[in-house]
Amino acid sequence: RHLYGGERLNASGLNLADHAVQFHLAQAWEKAGKQSWQAAPIVNGHRLAGNTCLIHNPADRDDIVGEVSLANAEAADQALDAACQAAPGWADSDVGMRAACLEQAAELLEAQMLELMSLIIREGGRTIPDALNEVRETIDFCRYYAVQARRHFAHPITLPGVTGESNQLRWAGRGVFICISPWNFPAAIFTGQIAAALVAGNSVIAKPAAPTPLSAAYLVDILHQAGIPQTVLHFLPGSGSQIGMQLVSDPRIAGVAFTGSTSTARQINQALAQRERILPFIAETGGQNCMLVDSSALPEQVVQDVIASSFNSAGQRCSALRVLYLQQEIAPQIISMLSGAMDELRIGNPMQLSTDIGPVISDSACAELLQHCEHMHREAHLIKALQQPPACVSGSFFPPHVYEIERLDQLQHEVFGPVLHIIRYSANQLDEVIAAINRSGYGLTLGIHSRIESRIDYIQRHTRCGNTYANRNMIGAVVGSQPFGGEGLSGTGPKAGGPHYLQRFATERVITVNT
Ligand code: NAD
Ligand code: ALA
Repeated sequence: RHLYGGERLNASGLNLADHAVQFHLAQAWEKAGKQSWQAAPIVNGHRLAGNTCLIHNPADRDDIVGEVSLANAEAADQALDAACQAAPGWADSDVGMRAACLEQAAELLEAQMLELMSLIIREGGRTIPDALNEVRETIDFCRYYAVQARRHFAHPITLPGVTGESNQLRWAGRGVFICISPWNFPAAIFTGQIAAALVAGNSVIAKPAAPTPLSAAYLVDILHQAGIPQTVLHFLPGSGSQIGMQLVSDPRIAGVAFTGSTSTARQINQALAQRERILPFIAETGGQNCMLVDSSALPEQVVQDVIASSFNSAGQRCSALRVLYLQQEIAPQIISMLSGAMDELRIGNPMQLSTDIGPVISDSACAELLQHCEHMHREAHLIKALQQPPACVSGSFFPPHVYEIERLDQLQHEVFGPVLHIIRYSANQLDEVIAAINRSGYGLTLGIHSRIESRIDYIQRHTRCGNTYANRNMIGAVVGSQPFGGEGLSGTGPKAGGPHYLQRFATERVITVNT
């Protein structure tokens, strides 16, 4: 449990080893696992009809989780109109009231934690610990942004003035914010963006990722129940290239918060650049994340942290480790221990507590990973490939692979799954390694394993990277403690879950009065 600047606590976890907790989770799963969930565009509280699409459980294609009605161009237009109408009133509303809505949402989420966990496991293929941590992060975003909004926006800042003049700086919502999110954190990222935009005083149109609209609809319902007016928060499940593009190209919007791939961020950036008005664009994108391990590192700790960083969430985290740099002297030992430890990993049904690695999101994600591995078979040396258990044939599973490559630039793009690449380096090549990491252009997460403090400091200072983790794994940033986000190809900043995030959603106004 961590403090938010001394004011709030992060959400508590659950003791998953406790039989009573396991029993309640099984009950929630029984209910949420049988339910047919529904999602549809919601504008001013009205559910709109559209072409429908079935959502399958990625761990079991035969399990239909529910159905989504997809937004069409007309629904997007209606949402834009409605959000525009609501924006001035919401911007003028009391910050304390907006923050209280987020705190109420956090309460509801805590009460419904097991149900939401079951839904994101079934729709998003998250394992139980992943789902638990994600729901906690969702709650944390609501509470943290409520605290930050009160701190920064509730009172104008009085600035010095010449005699007879008063100067005040006030923050105001910008207007209509478009929030576009990925499928790999269907609850936390979806809610985090919306919560920030709302509490900063914007009306919001939320467009979830195509594979996870049902969890998103559940969260919109919670936010509405928590007091966010239906006129202020609208929901448009639909295609990124159509609905997403229509929204970001519309002249009525005031800003975009996007999390997803670097290539989609570029497309949105181009669409925004076509307009007359210059808008804020908050993009949190992909990474080519590396970990450097020198010969002073503790091998057991390294192996544990490499496994968590590369294969947790089936490698489907933007923060995940993709390239492990091992100093020559320690490489054979680490590779041999890593290979042995990987044999213990269990791939399978994410709803079983013993599962370490669940499915990837879809068959097409499997196909992309397979294509990359076929390329690696030609270009690189295979160190380890786990086999897919026979019980996994009805789902989209991809077993972890480890390859040894020679250079970082052999990887041209982010490989979004459980595939780790190893490069050996010698002590006198440290600067070349750092230069290669910087040359990749990405700058999201970096891991360092070393017992030499001056080296940790040197590497951290010379790499352009948003979040550096030393002597631990490099995933699972905690709201309020490890504000998260990258630079370069990995994002624009500001960091989610950090003290400067909300300000980008708002605009500053100064009023000078001659008294
Ligand atoms: P994606 O870029 O394919 O899609 C993200 C969202 O953008 C979806 O809602 C999608 O429908 C929408 N979209 C797609 N094309 C669009 C367009 N032309 N205009 C407007 N919207 C469009 O990404 P994904 O596959 O959903 O997510 C995985 C990616 O997200 C990975 O690259 C991962 O690294 C990144 N990610 C980054 C962070 C971070 O905080 N930096 C966190 C999670 C995921
Ligand atoms: N914030 C997520 C993590 O740190 C992406 O893994």
